[in-house]
Amino acid sequence: MESLWRSSVSKWPLTLRINGNDVSAEVEVRLLLVDFLRTVAQLTGTHVGCDTSACGACTVLLDGYSIKSCTMFAVQAEGHEIITIEGVADHGALHPLQEAFREHHALQCGFCTPGLIISAIQLLARTSSPTRDEIRKGIAGNICRCTGYQNIVDAIEAASRGELAREAEAKHTSSSGVSQQGEELHES
Ligand code: FES
Ligand code: FES
Repeated sequence: MESLWRSSVSKWPLTLRINGNDVSAEVEVRLLLVDFLRTVAQLTGTHVGCDTSACGACTVLLDGYSIKSCTMFAVQAEGHEIITIEGVADHGALHPLQEAFREHHALQCGFCTPGLIISAIQLLARTSSPTRDEIRKGIAGNICRCTGYQNIVDAIEAASRGELAREAEAKHTSSSGVSQQGEELHES
């Protein structure tokens, strides 16, 4: 009887919606969501640091809420929209938080970075202009062993203030000013 039960429930046909795509497989019902992402969907940007809900390296968005994907079974995520770090860029253009992490040197080994960026996305969705204290609380579930957090907080703060967008706009304006001057000189 036990073997009959095992054979009937150990594998489960599962389809998960990840980064806008459906990924289907027969999985063991005990398979963790993080393992589905990494081994079935081949989305290895979601990391496993502890497997005990402590480090935040496995953080993904589930219906817009950041969750630690080592704390739920893959089958529990059916019917929900999952976003991993691979899904945050827009057609090759980095997400403003990814740009901010790069500009502010907010990573060293990078192991924690995908989880931190996902947590920061949720933080900025809830609080558009967080204080530095609110940023620190917002990323409290993510451990970084390298940076000391200072540059990570700087990066999230910069992204929240749209500083990168303003810098890009300023560069664009000054370069179009230069070319405009050039055109005027050419015309005269
Ligand atoms: Fe999930 Fe560390 S691997 S919290
Ligand atoms: Fe290495 Fe954060 S950059 S753990």
